[in-house]
Amino acid sequence: MTNKTLAIIKPDAVKRNLIGKIISIIEENDFVVSQVKSYHLNAVEAEKFYEIHKGKSFFEALIDYMTSDKIIVLLLHKNNAVSQFRKLIGNTNPELADSGTIRKLYAVNQTQNSIHGSDSDINANVEINFFFK
Ligand code: CMP
Repeated sequence: MTNKTLAIIKPDAVKRNLIGKIISIIEENDFVVSQVKSYHLNAVEAEKFYEIHKGKSFFEALIDYMTSDKIIVLLLHKNNAVSQFRKLIGNTNPELADSGTIRKLYAVNQTQNSIHGSDSDINANVEINFFFK
């Protein structure tokens, strides 16, 4: 089990000045931030990052949204980081997310859901290498 995961504060949260609030929640939950950067994905990069979703009904809306503004990318560390962080961010659909989770607090809808967290140790490594080579 790896102790690191990749988080992305997504454009809807960046636009609404929620970067500080979201990083505070992450740190209050004992994740250690070892790297952070602001990045503006282009369409080619976003399509590569989300290639697993290619062909799905929401894919084009997802690419448009993820390239619409800057994102904040964070490398996080904690024991059992991937599943602990997935728990903290909550369900993809904010209506189904548990109270206290980042998506319940801030997500606009299922696409504009404020935050990303890697969904497996394998994907965490792939995603970390994507942004922090
Ligand atoms: P995330 O889980 O971080 O990565 C894939 C993203 O695709 C997801 O967040 C949402 O932003 C988006 N997404 C996933 N499922 C749906 C859906 N059913 N409808 C719209 N957007 C979705």
